[in-house]
Amino acid sequence: MDMEKIVCNCMSVTCGRIKEAVDSGAVTLEEVQEATGAGTVCGACLEEVEALIAHFKAERDTP
Ligand code: FES
Repeated sequence: MDMEKIVCNCMSVTCGRIKEAVDSGAVTLEEVQEATGAGTVCGACLEEVEALIAHFKAERDTP
């Protein structure tokens, strides 16, 4: 996965930034939105942001 890839164009939020937010304890979409601003403008990226949250959460919770 390319961590430099911009997931949310409106807020210039990268994949890596979403991972950081999840690794620092964000679990819900709302928490990640609060931490990164991703998905708070036009909403076009929401599906991808949610998929990434699920992915990084699974990664984080797997020992
Ligand atoms: S692309 Fe993420 S809010 Fe617009």
